[in-house]
Amino acid sequence: MKVLIHEDAALAVDCVAGLMMARLARQPEVVLGLATGGTMEAVYARLIEAHRARRVSFARARSFNLDEYVGLRPDHPCSYWRYMREQLFDHVDMPAGATRLPRGDARDAEAEAVAYERAIVEAGDIGFQLLGLGANGHIGFNEPSSSLQSLTRIKTLTRSTREANARFFANPADVPRRAITMGIGTILRADEIVLLAYGAGKAEAAAAMIEGPMSAACPASALQMHRRTTVVLDEAAAGKLTLREYYEEVHPGGRSEVA
Ligand code: GLP
Repeated sequence: MKVLIHEDAALAVDCVAGLMMARLARQPEVVLGLATGGTMEAVYARLIEAHRARRVSFARARSFNLDEYVGLRPDHPCSYWRYMREQLFDHVDMPAGATRLPRGDARDAEAEAVAYERAIVEAGDIGFQLLGLGANGHIGFNEPSSSLQSLTRIKTLTRSTREANARFFANPADVPRRAITMGIGTILRADEIVLLAYGAGKAEAAAAMIEGPMSAACPASALQMHRRTTVVLDEAAAGKLTLREYYEEVHPGGRSEVA
């Protein structure tokens, strides 16, 4: 795992947007794995800016999102479909039909999960996977106790995750109880993974992910098994790392290339 610690969240966001742009420049037809959540809003804003300045094109890329709430139609204001359109898809040159999320309103959600996993495999798996981090260590909606080899399936959300996401809903009681999410095994098949976390609220989960035992208690710790994962943090999210000095020595100022 490469651990890049930046002075503040804005620099961490720039770093992640830059890593995705570098991959798109090297491989314009890359299959992107995309994430939602508050953390990613700034990343997508940077990518839109760069696209407007003609510094990045998504014209040949394809994407699969990590997850979607069960029961929400794509046009529901709180669906991840809507989030992706508003935060990214409507503002860049990704062709319609090249972007995919699980259908939260599928009549048979289990079958939708199986079909989604198959579609990812048929696309040749994810080339560049973007991840956020739940305060409880989840990635996608793989809550604690998820199998570290899981595939796309339905997961029941923990109360803490529903509470954390209630801010996106008019009424906290409206937060769905279940989601379709890529599994940890699905995510681990990605060629390259970049995880972004900032703020003190993520410090404990970041420490458990990077330095804790690999355990279903912290699903993100499964990334310790992945060969090409970069974790990008701000100083607040790096606050509980035991080996922080070491990471800063290897990657001063959060620079990706080894000094
Ligand atoms: C959400 C999403 C995750 C996201 C995480 C952190 O519930 N399913 O993909 O990374 O939780 O969210 P935030 O960025 O809002 O802190």
